[in-house]
Amino acid sequence: MNGIGSLARPPVEELFKPLQVGRIQVRNRLAFAPCTRQRSDLDGTPNDLNVEYYRQRSGAGLIVSEGIYPDDMGKGYLFSPGLCTESHVLGWRRVTDAVHAEGGAIFAQIMHVGRLSDPLMLPGGATPISASAVRPDPTARHYTVSCPRPKRPYPTPRALGAREVYDVIDHYKRCAQMADRAGFDGVEIHAASGYLPMQFLTPNTNQRDDEFGGSIEKRASFLLACVDAMSEVKGPGFVAVKVSPGWTFHDVFDDDPVGTYTHVGRELSKRQIAYLQVGNFGIQWDVFGTMRAAFDGPLMAVVGFTRARGAQAVASGAADLIGFGQGYMANPDLERRYENGWPLERPRLEAYYTQGAEGYTDYPRYEDSPLEGVVPVDEYPTPF
Ligand SMILES: Cc1cc2nc3c(=O)[nH]c(=O)nc-3n(C[C@H](O)[C@H](O)[C@H](O)COP(=O)(O)O)c2cc1C
Repeated sequence: MNGIGSLARPPVEELFKPLQVGRIQVRNRLAFAPCTRQRSDLDGTPNDLNVEYYRQRSGAGLIVSEGIYPDDMGKGYLFSPGLCTESHVLGWRRVTDAVHAEGGAIFAQIMHVGRLSDPLMLPGGATPISASAVRPDPTARHYTVSCPRPKRPYPTPRALGAREVYDVIDHYKRCAQMADRAGFDGVEIHAASGYLPMQFLTPNTNQRDDEFGGSIEKRASFLLACVDAMSEVKGPGFVAVKVSPGWTFHDVFDDDPVGTYTHVGRELSKRQIAYLQVGNFGIQWDVFGTMRAAFDGPLMAVVGFTRARGAQAVASGAADLIGFGQGYMANPDLERRYENGWPLERPRLEAYYTQGAEGYTDYPRYEDSPLEGVVPVDEYPTPF
């Protein structure tokens, strides 16, 4: 799949070579992929539990934080963290200090949900904003299992005015400044999964006729303007991007994803960002190969990777970093298990979006609890 090649005798050592990623060098090719867990304080401030959770996973070459809202209108889920107040900066500083004390590295994933919010979560009961006033299909899946957002169809969003678009871009930049003060090694713009930058990128959700809509170039200009604005803070090596070409999650449809994302990849190459995270969520065409051809910086591949497939992807040159989401959620010492061939724990799905330590910080390290691992090291650890 995706030109990654044979899995016989995986070249595991490939996963344990350092790599320059923007302004930092990471010590291995394993990334903890961004995973929303909704265990911050209600005002979006990271707390003690969050500090411990990230500290436990700091053996990853790079942690990408869960999605963080850059302003109050970007919030989509209760108990998800923000990065737009002093309290947020102080809370995140404790997380980044804990990760750095263990020799790890951490980028902040900046996630503005745009039309996927709800007035119940927005200041003054405001209407969610988007590129255009296009409502997500009310019959489409609009929340994941047990995810604490209102269990009702999304409302019709309000289209941002031309000047307001620049305000939002400015919020992304201010958020990058706060991320720097909070001690992050960089920021990753979440332009995947149908969130705001993807609402601009995708034709069915972007019906604008100004400089931010119409052609591929114009649809991409919001994302690229955010990259440029955030790069002013500490250079382009402080900025990364995540895309999910061709994925229709959250009711986005692009009839020419190869064209759209080839353009995006080329423009990001010119800007020399830290890395591009590419999710292939069951897409049949060669997503990684297409993005590898378009983008010449470090590429992080995600979704469904095992140790064997990850090692093969790095060895074949298909990717430079491999993101593991659920693997790291359930195995805080995943890199140690992969290095030593130790078995894996399974994640507890029912605790993905709940509160408290259970199913969050209580997964054991193999060395503390060697008999609990149940999944062979080269298998995928989720139960489905
Ligand atoms: C509970 C959960 C929360 C997630 N939250 C985010 C998120 O905030 N941002 C994001 O870009 N991806 C998010 N993802 C997607 C993961 O980053 C990853 O792509 C996905 O889990 C597939 O990788 P895996 O097969 O290694 O688990 C989430 C996935 C899960 C399971």
